[in-house]
Amino acid sequence: MCGIFGCVSKADGAAKIIHESLKRLEYRGYDSVGEATIFDGRIHVKKDQGKIDEVHKVHNLDDLPGSVGIGHTRWATHGAPSRVNAHPHLDCEDKIAVVHNGIIENFSELKAELEGLGHIFKSKTDTEVIPHLIEENIKRGSSFIEAVREALKRLEGSYAVAIITSLEPDKIVCARKESPLILGVGEKALYCASDIPAFLPLTNKAVILEEGDVAILQHDRYEIRRLEDWKQIAREIQVIAWTPEMAEKQGYPHFMLKEIHEQPLSLRNALRPQELYMDLMATFLDRAKNVFLVACGTSYHACLAASYMFSKLAYLPTYPIIASEFAEHVGMAVNIDSTILAVSQSGETADTLAAVEHARNRAATVLGLTNVVGSTLTRVSRVYVLQQSGPEIGVAATKTFTAQLLVLAQLALRVAKLRGKVSHQEVKAIEKKLKEIPDVVERTIKVNEEKIRQIVRKYKDSRFFVFLGRGISTATSLEGRLKLMEIAYVPAFAFPAGESKHGPISLIEPSVTVIFICPRDRTRKTIIGNIMEMKARGASIISVIEEGDEEIKQLSDDYLEVLGEVPEVLSPIAFVVPLQLFAYYMAVEKGYNPDMPRNLAKSVTVK
Ligand code: G6P
Repeated sequence: MCGIFGCVSKADGAAKIIHESLKRLEYRGYDSVGEATIFDGRIHVKKDQGKIDEVHKVHNLDDLPGSVGIGHTRWATHGAPSRVNAHPHLDCEDKIAVVHNGIIENFSELKAELEGLGHIFKSKTDTEVIPHLIEENIKRGSSFIEAVREALKRLEGSYAVAIITSLEPDKIVCARKESPLILGVGEKALYCASDIPAFLPLTNKAVILEEGDVAILQHDRYEIRRLEDWKQIAREIQVIAWTPEMAEKQGYPHFMLKEIHEQPLSLRNALRPQELYMDLMATFLDRAKNVFLVACGTSYHACLAASYMFSKLAYLPTYPIIASEFAEHVGMAVNIDSTILAVSQSGETADTLAAVEHARNRAATVLGLTNVVGSTLTRVSRVYVLQQSGPEIGVAATKTFTAQLLVLAQLALRVAKLRGKVSHQEVKAIEKKLKEIPDVVERTIKVNEEKIRQIVRKYKDSRFFVFLGRGISTATSLEGRLKLMEIAYVPAFAFPAGESKHGPISLIEPSVTVIFICPRDRTRKTIIGNIMEMKARGASIISVIEEGDEEIKQLSDDYLEVLGEVPEVLSPIAFVVPLQLFAYYMAVEKGYNPDMPRNLAKSVTVK
């Protein structure tokens, strides 16, 4: 995920401070790096693709002159990793430099407008519209600060930005909308950064900017204003007592917990898929004679959930297949009329790529959904979309799973629209619910976390766990079981609840815990029957329910609530969250490190 940093100091030497601070943002993951400073009425820039040390070796980042500057570590979203796409980005006259973390959704329209006015763009990034917009506003008579404000008001999407200009060389203007940005208040300098660790060795005084804040930094003072009404506001200075290690995880004890908590943000990003590619994908899916959804591990569970979404929303039958079985299972059935949608967070999983290769050799159309620009999957797909989750460091996938589900739901809705299978009102209703999902997840984390931390103690000696759900919740139960098994090393099974009577029920006895996934959908009544069966055999019951489902609460030993009404096709996104927390706290309770489960790798690049 991109990292931004800015430094306004009294003395020269900003470049070295920026360089060292960017090093402390390396853990976020990146592919390119760049810095810009102001000196002698000019902006000086060094940037390139590669790791900070490599770029520094070639360009010597530290010899940029001046006391004011900005820096960036880029994690590519729009435009491949390259020198020209690396930040900072400048206007036509090299007087304004911008670093940005986030996604500008309306960049194509803005770019076309600015090109029409004669602006020349150098990169393929969405970010570059910002310096050109500011330049245009200045040309029309605005002051630098006014020009920034007017530009920010035109941006749709998310951003944390830091902006400098040679026209007013003593300051940085920075602003945030849906991407984090924090000020560091030092004695001799002020800083802005994506994350506290960036400036922690320089100062432990931080001001957390809030949505819609714009901050203007000079070396000895700063002011914060609301973008909306330009009212000046005070924000409290917090003293940060974190060790550098804690700071990387933003105070969370593990990356997995940090990533679970990042889901409201990563889901908001997943609500901004690239329109054009989504439409193209929807067209390919609509026209295919047969559609295979191919993936491994957690991504396979996303595919399984997606198969219900495509069927329920678009009346499109699709076949979710575990990638390692693809060639053997359906290989001969794949042909020129087939479309394969490969889902892979890393875009590098060997089994998924092998399935894609097989499909390509049989002239099928390959579509990709991944989190990593420039990954092999992006290169071998006819069309791909990015899930925009930022790097995930915990080996067990969490935020990337829910983001995959959200992109797939949007894709299913597009196919439904193409096929005319859902009414205008239904589309509107689901679109509204899609937008609410990040908030539902946020509330669900808040309300369950402490409770789960407590109840894992009660269940930690269960002989094994069974996860049961029906319909689309089958995918949720499989994912909940995978999380618990892979990080807490607890034996666990998951089945569509209807199958439990055909075998698994013979294992049930009082030392077993059964976790039921119970959204208020058509399967709820039948699930209640399954709960009764398991209770009758002495199993402990934990249910994941929609807020206020009193009937199931009464039947359960413990319950975890999803806070909000979620339509059936979106339910896995919210219902999996308590299960992620359950697995996490169970691993911690048992004394394991959830970030590094034994024998597992984040990306499995061998077959
Ligand atoms: C490994 C990881 C899982 C992941 C799976 C597929 O097993 O540990 O978390 O779901 O690979 O990875 P992909 O990058 O293809 O989604």
